[in-house]
Amino acid sequence: MSDKQNPITTTDAGIPAASDEYSLSVGPNGPLLLQDHYLIQKMAQFNRERVPERVVHAKGSGAFGYFEVTEDVTQWTRAAFLNKIGKRTPVLVRFSTVAGELGSADTARDPRGFAIKFYTEEGNYDLVGNNTPIFFVRDPSKFQDFIHSQKRMPDTDMRSNNAMWDFWSLSPESIHQVSFLMSDRGTPRTYRHMNGYGSHTFMWVNAQGEKFWVKYHFKTEQGIENFTDAEAKAMSAEDTDYHRRDLRTAIEKKDYPVWRLEMQIMPFAEAATYRFNPFDLTKVWPHGDYPPVTIGRLVLDRNPENFFAEIEQAAFEPANMVPGIGPSPDKMLLGRLFSYPDTHRHRIGPNYLQLPVNQPHVEVHSYNKDGAMRYRHNGKQPVYAPNSYGGPQADPERYADVGWSASGEILRSAYTLHAEDNDFVQAGNFYRHALSVTDRDHLVSNIVGHMGQGVDRFVQERAIKNWYQVDKELGTRIAEGLGLTPALSTTGQDGQNI
Ligand code: HEM
Repeated sequence: MSDKQNPITTTDAGIPAASDEYSLSVGPNGPLLLQDHYLIQKMAQFNRERVPERVVHAKGSGAFGYFEVTEDVTQWTRAAFLNKIGKRTPVLVRFSTVAGELGSADTARDPRGFAIKFYTEEGNYDLVGNNTPIFFVRDPSKFQDFIHSQKRMPDTDMRSNNAMWDFWSLSPESIHQVSFLMSDRGTPRTYRHMNGYGSHTFMWVNAQGEKFWVKYHFKTEQGIENFTDAEAKAMSAEDTDYHRRDLRTAIEKKDYPVWRLEMQIMPFAEAATYRFNPFDLTKVWPHGDYPPVTIGRLVLDRNPENFFAEIEQAAFEPANMVPGIGPSPDKMLLGRLFSYPDTHRHRIGPNYLQLPVNQPHVEVHSYNKDGAMRYRHNGKQPVYAPNSYGGPQADPERYADVGWSASGEILRSAYTLHAEDNDFVQAGNFYRHALSVTDRDHLVSNIVGHMGQGVDRFVQERAIKNWYQVDKELGTRIAEGLGLTPALSTTGQDGQNI
């Protein structure tokens, strides 16, 4: 026991409380009195302890640290936080699973979120990525349907492998990401042993106004380590917080996890004629085409002090981009720019950016005002612009928006295909060239195990036709595993035989 005197309990208004144990009653055996304000406050606050969980990525963990620049990148971007070798920027990183709820097992098969908030001198920069360089769909209007196919069904309130494979097999653009998900990379051993990717293509702009298309790859210095399907399932039963515990313990032991930031950089003009659509989120840029350049390191060295305040209420938004960094024509990214601040206003409240974990480390001088729970303000600063009384003024020359030129008819359409675009070629390369023999065996058995549980025969057959187009051997092995005659049709999505 320490000699230090405990503070006196107070109400939330700071008034000393009379008891930690007993409510105020008429005689020892009740009844209770309405004037017991502290009891009523305790009950009322308790009833309001939860905010809604994130609609996706509900289960996650996070830590603080820093990003350090290790290479001169001023030829590509004028972002201030990247402008000097050795410069460090404080960060918050939150890792997550996608489909499970707040209390779900964090070792389940799923992509992992890898969201980074850089507290830069020019405001917050949020890079809200995954542990995969690609995604399941390439148009934001399919995202909600995709997520619905992964979450609980309306009748049973259980997840359905049938719904997943129904959606995936009807959405062949998903097969590259499904290959990744069904490989052992779908069950990382820990958050520390996986890579993080910005996934989308972004724009970098240098001080001269030259533009580049870039992709971010955070490569784990701990090495990639995965669970097998059986190990992940056993761990999900044994410890639903395994990844959370691992991250917290590693940082507590000062075994700080580190990632190397490698960038792929494409000159602006090359996008038009690149063999793949460089803005299609279901595709990678093969490293041979654009070799990654190491530019920095990300280190996590501090655990949150209060999980709810600092992690549950953390709000990441891809729209938070600082000068020198901009969006690309990736339709998914453009959709996400709207979605996140919208969900934060609903989940946390309109002034979520004033919470300590979300507030930038620079002063805020906007003309937005009021709303529930606002406590930061600019006194009597003018509340409209333009004004004659010294209110903040934007600098359109210094901070001009960056973009690209666009024109065309207004319509709903798929992207225009580039020379080598199709949905299967990169998944085939992933299977044949990125995976080891053991990885390939596991991919087959993981798919067979997953598709073998409650998936309708016709859905299995349709999915196998897609696997065939990824790789004939892979398709045959999955078909055999499911006791199906290998599909005869090898007709590609464009009607071409492959
Ligand atoms: C149109 C496509 C997408 C939409 C509409 C969308 C929407 C959302 C929403 C509403 C949330 C919950 C945010 C919150 O409550 O804090 C979320 C979380 C998240 N999303 Fe997306 N998402 C999309 C695609 C993606 C993609 C492509 C990635 C990765 C490359 C991604 C990564 C994440 C991550 C990491 C989180 C969790 C952030 C955190 O840790 O708080 N999402 N998404």
